[in-house]
Amino acid sequence: MLKDVEREKWGSRIGFILAAAGSAVGLGNIWKFPYLAGENGGAAFILVYLFSVIVIGLPLIYAEILIGRTTNRNPVGAFVTLSNNHPFWRLFGFLGVIAGFSILSYYSVVAGWTLGYIFEAIKGTFYSFSLPTDAANHFNSLTGNPYWNVSYFILFMLLTMSFVYFGVQKGIELGSKFMMPLLFIILLVLLVRSLTMENTNLGLSFLIKLDWSVVRPGTFLLALGQAFFSLSLGMGAMLTYGSYMNKKDSIISSGFSVVTLDASVAILAAFAIFPALFAVGMEPNAGPGLVFHTLPIVFTKMQGGYFFAILFFILLALAALTSTISLLEVITAYFVDEKGWSRKKAVIIFGSLTILLGIPSALSFNVLSNFTINSLNFFDLIDFISSNIFLPVGGFLISIFIGYFLGKEKSIENLKQGSESFFDKYYWFGNIWFFFIRFVSPILIFLVFLRSLGLI
Ligand code: PHE
Repeated sequence: MLKDVEREKWGSRIGFILAAAGSAVGLGNIWKFPYLAGENGGAAFILVYLFSVIVIGLPLIYAEILIGRTTNRNPVGAFVTLSNNHPFWRLFGFLGVIAGFSILSYYSVVAGWTLGYIFEAIKGTFYSFSLPTDAANHFNSLTGNPYWNVSYFILFMLLTMSFVYFGVQKGIELGSKFMMPLLFIILLVLLVRSLTMENTNLGLSFLIKLDWSVVRPGTFLLALGQAFFSLSLGMGAMLTYGSYMNKKDSIISSGFSVVTLDASVAILAAFAIFPALFAVGMEPNAGPGLVFHTLPIVFTKMQGGYFFAILFFILLALAALTSTISLLEVITAYFVDEKGWSRKKAVIIFGSLTILLGIPSALSFNVLSNFTINSLNFFDLIDFISSNIFLPVGGFLISIFIGYFLGKEKSIENLKQGSESFFDKYYWFGNIWFFFIRFVSPILIFLVFLRSLGLI
């Protein structure tokens, strides 16, 4: 094991915030959140989502950062340290590393599409569709091509590896400081374009006018699950990023900034998409095809669509890249901390292994499309296991660990470090937070888990 002194740290507080927000802001915000909102009543879903972020997201992000910062370790090392090497918690730490590996392998396939779509946009493909089915057919013909799918996937993995390779400060932090502001600028440009279209009333009222009739108990669980995935919780990404944080920095305010940035991007993305979408007469409930099937039609019909299509797919690729970097960092940190490997070796070996694991996912849309287990192809299967099993189990056990093993006194004492003046004023905050972690989160996460297994 390496000594603390040799371990890297973020160069600045803002470095942590941008890197962690980069992990959180991803395909989940710009691809998934808008289509979920589109399918589940717009404004009402957004509100339920915000509620979920506060109830589950905020307490858990504090919990994860806290475990990382207290131990200065990757998920395995962190749980080993805090549990005095208890085999169960060591195994649990491994689950995080394995989840990082499996999520990275299929997430990068979709991320690869965003790169491919930047080139399609530059070629002018999104200027020539006349029927909505044209865009869907085009998507299917691209992803149906194994060479296209596998090449962009590998290209995206190589990009991810190149950032992690250069380390916490010179790779991840520097990259995030450049990519996150760019992401915000592009998002704002797209937002202004969408809101200045003619006929935005329909889209705006969809996002603002509350219609509770579409909200069911299931909608809450969907929003809770989405808040969880969107904040990169349950597999140790925030824990690992927290482990590079300075003890003098405030977990309270940094964590709050990350959560606020993440929720804002999701909501702004919805405002950048729906007014434009309604303005050209499209329906909001296209599901997962919203971004790749429906938006190209919007760009075809929009003035300046050529330019905005390129920007949009760059936005999506940037968001995905800062997330895949955090996934690979979890795996890398484990081998660096626990096995004493050099960072470069860990990145090359595990980046390559992730490419191998991801190839069947990339082939699930073409040559392996008939290979299914329980009617799920390989891509769907890895997605299901990672998002519906690994992450909720991870989040559940993190709450249990803090709430019942680490205990109130020790947890709050560590949470306070760096936030002394905040706690002087809001001395009750620690108790409320601990109550949420001990009682509220485990119950809610358990319900989300049952729901995602189709049991309730
Ligand atoms: N939060 C990322 C997104 O919204 C996904 C992610 C999950 C990244 C878990 C890291 C860990 O797309």
